Amino acid sequence: MIPGGTGQVGGVLRRALAARGDEVVVVSRRPEALEPGIRHVVWDGRTQGAWADEVDGADAVVNLAGRSVSCRYTDANLRQMMDSRVDSTRAVGEAISRASDPPRVWLQMSTATIYADARSRGDDRPHDEVGGVIGGEEPDVPLYWEYSVRIARRWEQAQAEAATPATRRVALRTAMVMTPDRGGIFDYLSWMARLGLGGPVAGGRQHVSWIHGEDFVRAVQFLLERDDLEGPVNLAAPGPVPQGELMRSLRHAWGGRPGLPATRLMAEVGALVLRTDTELLLKSRRVVPARLLEAGFTFTHPRWRSAAIDLVDGARRR
Ligand SMILES: NC(=O)c1ccc[n+]([C@@H]2O[C@H](COP(=O)([O-])OP(=O)(O)OC[C@H]3O[C@@H](n4cnc5c(N)ncnc54)[C@H](OP(=O)(O)O)[C@@H]3O)[C@@H](O)[C@H]2O)c1
Repeated sequence: MIPGGTGQVGGVLRRALAARGDEVVVVSRRPEALEPGIRHVVWDGRTQGAWADEVDGADAVVNLAGRSVSCRYTDANLRQMMDSRVDSTRAVGEAISRASDPPRVWLQMSTATIYADARSRGDDRPHDEVGGVIGGEEPDVPLYWEYSVRIARRWEQAQAEAATPATRRVALRTAMVMTPDRGGIFDYLSWMARLGLGGPVAGGRQHVSWIHGEDFVRAVQFLLERDDLEGPVNLAAPGPVPQGELMRSLRHAWGGRPGLPATRLMAEVGALVLRTDTELLLKSRRVVPARLLEAGFTFTHPRWRSAAIDLVDGARRR
């Protein structure tokens, strides 16, 4: 069962699970006709209802629901980003706790944004699940970045507080999921690269953590099976890259486009026009998948250079 399975990440996941023969039920707020064989039920993302009957007897729940973070970080949007995540996670937890035959496992979406800006770390180490520093107290970063971390913490807390003793719980601390589909983050970065705007932003040294959509799906399947893994798990390729390098490889994959550098101010103006927020470009996210690697998971696309070529191929075929 996939609450929030109508979005970009949900699309890749539900199609992959259905393709391997799983019975997939997607839960979202409006009636939707999805791919053949995938059922859809409606909820409000907050309260119990007929949708909760689907939880009873399900093998697994993967909850992806949450208002998009690609928007201006106004007070109203930040509030919706918080409430949609915390409320929907609580609703899922409550449905599981009431089920007479609860699912074996509950994978709950979280975010790699929970970690501190990588530049605030004196020892220059990337963040893993054990030694990683949770963000919110970095000096010299805009105050509202703390709020994104707070959303992530409350999101995970809502899962941790649920009374679901018979269900294994994992929080998916996920980096940017790169898929060749229209409308996702890769599409947006590609659009900048093709317009010649994909240069380094504000120096380009801030790290970007990312994961190829295929590896995201494979990691979810791995975590569904592995009964020994619980708690936070980073879903990020082992090779995070500085933003300038990320865009250089992407421009190269699109056939060597020029890339104008942008200052922080130019990024602010661009983000305003695109109705998104510069935190997505400027925060240094250097997150590595220590637990997945330790558990024996192997990435099909561990390095950005070759992943970018593969994604551009996919976008061209689209
Ligand atoms: N894309 C990434 O790179 C990435 C990386 C890390 C974490 N994540 C997280 O993964 C989740 C899915 O990402 P995505 O890119 O697929 O997002 P998306 O395309 O915006 O899809 C969001 C999903 O959440 C549901 N939703 C939106 N507002 C809601 C609300 N107020 N209450 C309940 N459900 C609501 C939507 O369903 P309906 O509107 O149909 O109800 C949709 O199914 C999000 O929580 C996101 O923060 C994404």
